[in-house]
Amino acid sequence: MYKIGIFDSGVGGLTVLKEIKKATPTSSIIYYGDNGNAPYGDKQEEVIRTLCLKIGKFLYEKQVDVIVIACNTATAAALKTLRATFPIPIIGVIEPGVRAALEVSENKNIGVILTPASAKMNAYKKVFDKIAPEGYTIMERGCKLICPMVEGNWEVEYGTYMTDELIKLYLEGIPSNVDTLVLGCTHYPIMQDTISKYFTKNIVNPANETANELMKQLAQIKEKDLSTGEPTTEYIVSGNTEKFFDFAKNFIDKDIKEVKKINL
Ligand code: DGL
Repeated sequence: MYKIGIFDSGVGGLTVLKEIKKATPTSSIIYYGDNGNAPYGDKQEEVIRTLCLKIGKFLYEKQVDVIVIACNTATAAALKTLRATFPIPIIGVIEPGVRAALEVSENKNIGVILTPASAKMNAYKKVFDKIAPEGYTIMERGCKLICPMVEGNWEVEYGTYMTDELIKLYLEGIPSNVDTLVLGCTHYPIMQDTISKYFTKNIVNPANETANELMKQLAQIKEKDLSTGEPTTEYIVSGNTEKFFDFAKNFIDKDIKEVKKINL
């Protein structure tokens, strides 16, 4: 049985976990949500990297076989550093997201909504410039408030008026020739129903392609058998356990037993 470490700044990475659980239902998973430090999207690159290194060390010491950075902002800030620091496969969400968008776009104009920190790092543009064939264009739109809105559960707390208006406002900034919109923050698929009201062309959630990438990496770790094992999922956060528990119970795991709090 494989042991997979996954982390995000909070509940967003659960959108990736959902796909991973489908792809490898027999793996044991440790999910770390750094909600005590969320949002990452407002922070400096170095600060995010330091947080990610602590989480990487924590998961590595838990003897996971692979780490999935289920956060675009963390992937942009720390994928290289984590790969250089820990001798196990480390998977990010950005390259899978770009690959998925390239497959789907017909007119070759791709838009990405992402956190301000990711936009500042040109998170998608950098990877896109490396792997996209000639003729494609990409534009990134930083959205400061969507992650705090999801993390704070505004939709449930205040109703849908504000969340709808906010998303509409951000999506108005997407040029009309964009035929494919990447949800470049793992919190955003949680709002996909609302997003699809205001962007009615292709929407790409990188989670699916990230799970495919994980399966490729796991297949290379030959000594383990993917087909057996009692699946366990351990949830750990750095901040509010109750909010995380309620969200995870609704969104992914109706049998969730507990959320531990560990500050790193
Ligand atoms: N879910 C994260 C991402 O994919 C980070 C959101 C945040 O904490 O700002 O970028």
